[in-house]
Amino acid sequence: MQENGQKKKILYSAVQPSGDLTIGNYLGAIKNWVELQEDYECFYAMADMHAITVRQDPATLRRKTLELAALYIACGVDPEKCTLYVQSNVSCHAELAWVLNTLTYVGEMERMTQFKDKSAKHADNINMGLMDYPVLMAADILLYQADVVPVGFDQRQHLEITRDIAVRFNNRYSPTFTVPEAVIMKVGAKINSLQEPTKKMSKSDENPNASVYMSDDRDAIVRKFRRAVTDSDSAVRFDPENKPGVSNLLTVYSAFAGKSVEEAEREFDGKGYGDFKAAVGEVVADALSPIQSEQKRILADKGYLEGVLAAGAERAYRAARRTLSKVYRKVGFYRPEK
Ligand code: TYM
Repeated sequence: MQENGQKKKILYSAVQPSGDLTIGNYLGAIKNWVELQEDYECFYAMADMHAITVRQDPATLRRKTLELAALYIACGVDPEKCTLYVQSNVSCHAELAWVLNTLTYVGEMERMTQFKDKSAKHADNINMGLMDYPVLMAADILLYQADVVPVGFDQRQHLEITRDIAVRFNNRYSPTFTVPEAVIMKVGAKINSLQEPTKKMSKSDENPNASVYMSDDRDAIVRKFRRAVTDSDSAVRFDPENKPGVSNLLTVYSAFAGKSVEEAEREFDGKGYGDFKAAVGEVVADALSPIQSEQKRILADKGYLEGVLAAGAERAYRAARRTLSKVYRKVGFYRPEK
């Protein structure tokens, strides 16, 4: 409840515990979650069921799921205020996804940009789960009757299909799902690769210099920014079309330094790329270092983390089950009275 007695709106988001998180994941998603947790009732998941749509080593996936939970908390997500849980701990996600599959067309899924990209990248493993990824995502969001979903720019299309599926279900049966809105921040929604600055920074990039990971130490961070691809000009100016590299670095700098892009431009007016890149590296390293130590501390306290995730799974299950029961009734699934 809010102070004015009104029920808070519901927020849902998730990250896959696959690969090492980048500062793109942080700026595009987790950093905003922390800001939004005061105003919304928040559900934040570790999307391990999404992660297995590409091959994962089981022991690594389990470890990364816990590391991700600890990272959420280290970044400032408060488990007292939010529901933090592992997607596979709540069976309703798979169950709702099955029902929603019957309202989703194969052609729609084949047209999804991420499906096309991932199919090209994992040509030897174009599995049904990869294709069904957006439907499982729709199930995640719709189960909790989310009003808003803060994500990076690359998830925009998945949010659109979620809305379409929700409307379709509501029209075919009767109003059941809240139709969610994507929340895509102006700054940080698309952090680009340091090596190919017109391409998204990605957890799964093969070139380790292209991405700055949340776990990188100061030396690695400073080195990666020093080597970042810019242009032959020397002006630190925000111009994504003609200066994608510099503009990307300005975005990263302003997001981490808590300044506007214009302020950042003024700060580096007349300075060369060398000084600018060094400053970006320092500001990112300064921000990540306390997060890394906090994550380590939380991970060492296994009892605490397990408690958070057990309580989160229970709370999430209760909310999800309520929606799923409604859905089962509406589609006509028989349930014995006793
Ligand atoms: P994932 O793990 O691929 O990405 C997690 C979040 O990080 C954002 N992101 C970025 N933002 C800015 N710049 C980048 N370079 C960048 N790379 C990634 C993504 O947009 C995302 O917000 N499928 C989701 C996980 C998910 C989910 C959900 C999200 C599963 N179920 C339900 C919202 C609601 C994903 O992209 O994960």
